[in-house]
Amino acid sequence: MNRIAAANPLFYQTSAETPMVAKAEGIYIWDEDGRKYIDGCSGAIICNIGHGDPGVLAAINEQAKSAFFTYRTQFENRPAVKLAQKLVDLSTPGLDRVFYVSGGSEAVESAIKLCRSYFCSKGEHGRHLIISRTPSYHGSTLGALALTAYAPLEIPYRPMLKASPKIPAPYCYRCHYQLTYPQCNLACAKALETAINEQGPENVAAFIAEPIGGASTGALVPPEDYFAVIRDICNRYGILLILDEVMTGFGRTGRLFAYEHWNLRPDIIALSKGMASGYYPLGAVMAGNELVESVLAGGGFPHGHTYAGNPMACAVGLAVLNRIVDDQLAENAAETGRQLLSGLRQLAGHYPIIGEVRGRGLLTALEFVADRESRAPFANSDQIFNLVTREAFSRGLIIYPRKSINGLAGDHVLIAPPLIISAAQVDEMLERLNETLAAVTRLLADKTIHPGNQHHRTDQSTHKGETQ
Ligand SMILES: Cc1ncc(COP(=O)(O)O)c(C=O)c1O
Repeated sequence: MNRIAAANPLFYQTSAETPMVAKAEGIYIWDEDGRKYIDGCSGAIICNIGHGDPGVLAAINEQAKSAFFTYRTQFENRPAVKLAQKLVDLSTPGLDRVFYVSGGSEAVESAIKLCRSYFCSKGEHGRHLIISRTPSYHGSTLGALALTAYAPLEIPYRPMLKASPKIPAPYCYRCHYQLTYPQCNLACAKALETAINEQGPENVAAFIAEPIGGASTGALVPPEDYFAVIRDICNRYGILLILDEVMTGFGRTGRLFAYEHWNLRPDIIALSKGMASGYYPLGAVMAGNELVESVLAGGGFPHGHTYAGNPMACAVGLAVLNRIVDDQLAENAAETGRQLLSGLRQLAGHYPIIGEVRGRGLLTALEFVADRESRAPFANSDQIFNLVTREAFSRGLIIYPRKSINGLAGDHVLIAPPLIISAAQVDEMLERLNETLAAVTRLLADKTIHPGNQHHRTDQSTHKGETQ
């Protein structure tokens, strides 16, 4: 395999070596040794429109002829205005304004600072806390990380993070309260009200959640009525509902935005990933007129990043959004997503190591268990999430691994291919998964792996190889 030389000065999260990429097109990637891979997780669940899209490449060439970069306080640019207008037109009422950033963590940072600025502009200076969920992922910068609950990513930085209240995510497979839906009466949603009262409502600014869970929870779809309860609590206490649509936005879950599944009206959304589908760093925050006008009238929004809203980023975003809308990629995600979920459920029928199949649209996941009956996870030392991912990679299928129980135990992989995938390609992906799971099952039988529920290790050494 053609590998980066050991003397390579580059470093990332770990010292793991990866093949050198040669080319990427559609749902496929080739390395320099000529090996072909199915991009079964769209990179980091970002390449919604697939690789090498001719329309985006043409838009890049066209924009490069006029202005690549201009700075937003000195010049407005047409792609920025056009993209903002299109986003507003395609969004639910109440998301009337757009603030550009260059990535998901920046979008979350901007959303929480926008909340704070809003309450300051209204004279409610006490409101500074953002309540979030366990597990969750909102980004790697310190503000977004403070809202994240995934222990391996947080532990080293905890002394530097603002303490933020958390409530349990609606992780029904391993309910925090050991209850069952619907008899649980949505205890996990109602925990928001308890948390607000514990903190003092006058101190709470917002609640933030991924509408359908991403990496940390493995495509966690909440119960149908979950967000109605959350919205009602937010309304009653005058706190803002921020939806982190960084992973779920732009067609990923079978609708353009995931909030559409429940006719939900968020106050603020954070966007990135599929927004430019990997062709350029781009993200945004959307909010309502009343909120934005209050902030601007109260002295403005003292926040921003250098690359935000530059002409090239927005030209790319516009071409990507046109591709998603014109070619009905959200609809294709809904349809091929149903096929994928049904195929994954069939695999679960063959492989007892699959504890649960989750997801919606083309954001899907498999959670693995050592014992299906008790739902006991594998021992951390077995590194099942990495083992499955490695075995898939060696068979030319790229998937995305994580640990399910707050990053401390349990194993899942995300399967989230580009939204352009065809029915035949879904079958091809399922066949490679089948081969992977057969191989993993054989390896486990040889090793006689035992359930790990009594031996959860919480130290960092068990998470080597995990990336964000
Ligand atoms: C839901 C969610 N929010 C925020 C982020 C952070 O995005 P970025 O890595 O672009 O900073 C991610 C990244 O995976 C994410 O999935």
